[in-house]
Amino acid sequence: MIGDPPAPLDGARELFALDPAVAHVNHGSFGAVPVPVRQARQRLIDEHDANPTRFVTADLWERVAAARAAAAAFCGADPAGSAFVANATTGTALVLAAVAPGEGDEIVVTDHGYHAVELAVDDQHRRRGVRVVTVPVELGASEADTVAAVLDRVGPRTRLVIVDQVSSATAQRHPVHTIAAALRDRGVPLLVDGAHAPGMLARPVAGLAADFWVGNLHKWAFAPPGTALLQVAPDWRDRMVPLVVSHSQPDGFPLFLEQQGTLDHSPWLAAPAGLDVFDRYGFDTIQRHNVALAAYGQRVLGQALGLDPDALPEPGPEVPMRLLPLPTGAARGFADTAALRTRISVELGVEPNVMWWRDRAFLRISAQIYNSAADYERLAAGLPGLLRG
Ligand SMILES: Cc1ncc(COP(=O)(O)O)c(C=O)c1O
Repeated sequence: MIGDPPAPLDGARELFALDPAVAHVNHGSFGAVPVPVRQARQRLIDEHDANPTRFVTADLWERVAAARAAAAAFCGADPAGSAFVANATTGTALVLAAVAPGEGDEIVVTDHGYHAVELAVDDQHRRRGVRVVTVPVELGASEADTVAAVLDRVGPRTRLVIVDQVSSATAQRHPVHTIAAALRDRGVPLLVDGAHAPGMLARPVAGLAADFWVGNLHKWAFAPPGTALLQVAPDWRDRMVPLVVSHSQPDGFPLFLEQQGTLDHSPWLAAPAGLDVFDRYGFDTIQRHNVALAAYGQRVLGQALGLDPDALPEPGPEVPMRLLPLPTGAARGFADTAALRTRISVELGVEPNVMWWRDRAFLRISAQIYNSAADYERLAAGLPGLLRG
């Protein structure tokens, strides 16, 4: 039984400039910027271009601080402990620079980690002799099993643990609040990779005892690309090491992370316009719609691919992304999954993501307020033939 999709939200599709000829079911990768947010950003660019000197020297940093406060409140983050950074990748690099593990120290990660973060951690291994401990966590693992798997591998040499709040490759929610509390008791720093969390989960940092958390507002919170928030626990703020030293170096956290030479700050300043979309519909309404539509898409695609409906991967509560295992032979390795994604885009006019995890290819679909049942139905109608061809 596939059941009904959720009712569309009034006017939601028209809020986006997305190509109407394409079914965009990959919101989780790069987000999508609503038209009012693009307009707000364009007004900022116009203001800058009309008088760059005044734009930068009048009250730019007060405006950045106000936008940061709005983003922090939305995420449930501590405004005094938050800084804007360009993206989760930059946030991770900043945390690695602050923690500065040395020869023989350990960083514990799970096997659900984001590829760029894996590479950043591998780089610590190559350049500094850090040991990387990768903890396997099963698809659909219970919270208790995930917590136990991670904590079991934390030892006296562990200098940092990194856990995704919601993973990219597997669209799986992890119990980061419980892990954070346990690690705080042991005095081991935790970085929560919350790249997907803002706008997907309500106030994802509230009550989180992690030393570090980074979340992208340019995915699910409708901000322009280049907008992420890094929250740093009080003990670590003086130990942060900017990757670029600039005028605000003497000012310390958070200004020395935000003021890094001449940059385009319009994405950060326009971010609050993205948060207005949540006021328009209500956070819970958007979340319920997206989660129900992703589940519908998974059921439609599961049926088309002949998968057992009771065995489809469950992402955990409140996650509007879903995985579908693809038949063996559909793709082998990262290059193959990228090629398959391109074929789906070109041949079917659908933009999903195709992931490679534990030697298996998965289709990953996302649902956002601009999506409708027809997007997933189009993919379901075309995919079996494409995979055979
Ligand atoms: C779990 C996770 N971490 C980190 C990132 C990196 O985000 P960005 O490319 O904005 O740095 C992503 C992006 O998809 C992600 O899904």
